[in-house]
Amino acid sequence: MPNNKKMYDKGKVVAGLCIFVVLITFPFWFNLGKAAPAPEPKLSDKAKAAKECVMPKATMKTEHMQILNEWRDTVVRDAKRIYTNPSGKKFNMSLSNTCLDCHVEKAEFCDKCHNYASVTPYCWECHIDPKEAK
Ligand code: HEC
Ligand code: HEC
Ligand code: HEC
Repeated sequence: MPNNKKMYDKGKVVAGLCIFVVLITFPFWFNLGKAAPAPEPKLSDKAKAAKECVMPKATMKTEHMQILNEWRDTVVRDAKRIYTNPSGKKFNMSLSNTCLDCHVEKAEFCDKCHNYASVTPYCWECHIDPKEAK
């Protein structure tokens, strides 16, 4: 029965093809649902001791860029340097002297998160990381 033999071979070929496709796409579906987790920003000892940021954590997470813009505009345009947060705490509006004074580990804190989010703030062309400057 030559015909039967042929069918049999075809079945083998199809099965072989299936295995081949599965193997070749394995790295793809094996990684589904396993995207790299967002890094948990590491707080410096100084920040831990302070316990609180300028604003509540959730606000800082999503709005720190606006806060920095507001600080810059207030300092540069209005020559005002003191910021009072809603709970009455005062801050010197400075990227290097305030934010990085608490978040001493810029690389571990700001940079790690920015790398993950693929953002590269250009601020450091002019503003210093006090730790690096030492
Ligand atoms: C081309 C240089 C330059 C770049 C780039 C730059 N700044 Fe500034 N920034 C200045 C100068 C100059 C001042 C005025 C310094 C002062 O009066 O203390 C300033 C002031 C500020 C201040 C208030 C004062 C202080 O000590 O921090 C903030 C906040 C600030 N900038 C944030 C930013 C942020 C955020 C970025 C990036 C998104 C940025 N700047 C990028 C030059 C720059
Ligand atoms: C007095 C110390 C202090 C200063 C100054 C400070 N921070 Fe924070 N920051 C903290 C602490 C503490 C936390 C964690 C708050 C919490 O867990 O509730 C935090 C949290 C954050 C977060 C959220 C991190 C996360 O896990 O999602 C961002 C972003 C941030 N700060 C940015 C800034 C920026 C930008 C500035 C300057 C405008 C600044 N911080 C100034 C202490 C500080
Ligand atoms: C929890 C993660 C996280 C941490 C921690 C964090 N950032 Fe960001 N930052 C972001 C994300 C996400 C964006 C982009 C947001 C957007 O484009 O809307 C951003 C944007 C910015 C921008 C605006 C950049 C631009 O080109 O528009 C500045 C300035 C900035 N961050 C400063 C800081 C500083 C300074 C620190 C450390 C004190 C810090 N960030 C810590 C997540 C973080």
